[in-house]
Amino acid sequence: MVSIISIKSKKLCGEIYVPGDKSISHRALILGACAVGKTIIENLLESEDVLATLKALKELGVNIKKNKHLWEVRGNGLGSFTSPNKILNLGNSGTGVRLLMGLVSGCPITASFTGDESLNSRPMKRVIIPLKQSGAEILSNDYKLPITIKGNKLPIPIKYTSSLSSAQVKSCVLLNGLTSTGNTLYSEVVKSRDHTEKMLHFMGAEINSKYLKDGTNKIELKGLPYLKGTHFSIPNDPSSAAFPSAAALIVPGSEIKIKNVCLNDLRTGFYRSIKEMGGFIKFINRKNLSGEVVGDILVRYSKLKGITVPKKRVPSMIDEFPIFCIVACFAEGETIMTGIKDLRNKESDRIREIVENLKKFGFAVKSTLNSISIVGNKKINPKKEIEIDSKFDHRIAMSFLCLGLFIENGVKVKNAETINTSFPNFYEIMKSLGAELKK
Ligand code: S3P
Repeated sequence: MVSIISIKSKKLCGEIYVPGDKSISHRALILGACAVGKTIIENLLESEDVLATLKALKELGVNIKKNKHLWEVRGNGLGSFTSPNKILNLGNSGTGVRLLMGLVSGCPITASFTGDESLNSRPMKRVIIPLKQSGAEILSNDYKLPITIKGNKLPIPIKYTSSLSSAQVKSCVLLNGLTSTGNTLYSEVVKSRDHTEKMLHFMGAEINSKYLKDGTNKIELKGLPYLKGTHFSIPNDPSSAAFPSAAALIVPGSEIKIKNVCLNDLRTGFYRSIKEMGGFIKFINRKNLSGEVVGDILVRYSKLKGITVPKKRVPSMIDEFPIFCIVACFAEGETIMTGIKDLRNKESDRIREIVENLKKFGFAVKSTLNSISIVGNKKINPKKEIEIDSKFDHRIAMSFLCLGLFIENGVKVKNAETINTSFPNFYEIMKSLGAELKK
């Protein structure tokens, strides 16, 4: 068990690179494995979550190796996977397990999946329902892991409408639809991150999206595309960048630059919300990288005011609510977040962890099944060090370590090794900016 302590810090300054994007890294490996020929991946996130996907793909018979700083995936084409000898353990990774369940369901193989305590308690019904419609045989532990899937060589092309705005569900259905002879139709209530669609298009698939006025997103994928091996340059992760950004926003005098970050609109809701609160955030040096918009983020310490986050923005900042709540603690007035029920199904029940932990400091915070509201207070100063358990949720761990940078007596985060699932060099990067952290 690793504990990290953070304490009140002087201004944070400097230029940093956060690691490669987690969502795109999983997809680069999986889609590279579906292609014919070699896919080269630059700037793959080498975190526990992504390495769990990589290992599972190897167990499904894919040849993946590292050559200097580049990863090479030798794809043998759609449906070329073999039944693994071992149960596939995806550790903490919801993206890894849900996407691979889609892949396996579309192949004539059998595979079993499991994960750590956190992953094994997360809901899988959202992917089991559409996969069963396509003809996969699935045995689960009451819609949770461990799960065994007997895939279908030619999945039935399905027309699926999801009530959730979830890129994991969407990507699972699309990966399954790759080996179908017909067209897969997928519709979501609010558009979620579209990396899978972009990457499939980039590799030669016929995939079209229609974004309707009411916010609905409709996708059509033509089955059995010829996916050619490619070169993916992965931009840096805007969700990881949110942590140093938040720290700079709340520690007086700070000014930082975070380089080469993915600025896809469907990932940058956190930054839009901070701007609305009066925060200094600037996106500069925009360019295109493997189909994604990439740029640098400038952040300065700012005086903030509370806002109500529009419900439609929730999917574009879904992973940033824990750190957004920390920033809201320093805004003048109330910040209200609604339509966030699915935060209860993440690596931990994030609504509960955020609220219960913020209360330990004395912040005025309230929640319902579906919402959080926080009244900011810069005068909070607990008399002793506050201890937080990460509950094996990397974003809870990093969020409270950022809060500690403002707190005189500091914050101790237990089970902080969970940070390695997404941001292995968090400690070093934050220290390089001047953050007072110790192990
Ligand atoms: C992800 C989608 C989101 C997000 C997760 C990564 C992805 O999950 O929370 O961290 O890479 O597709 P949901 O699809 O469940 O919202």
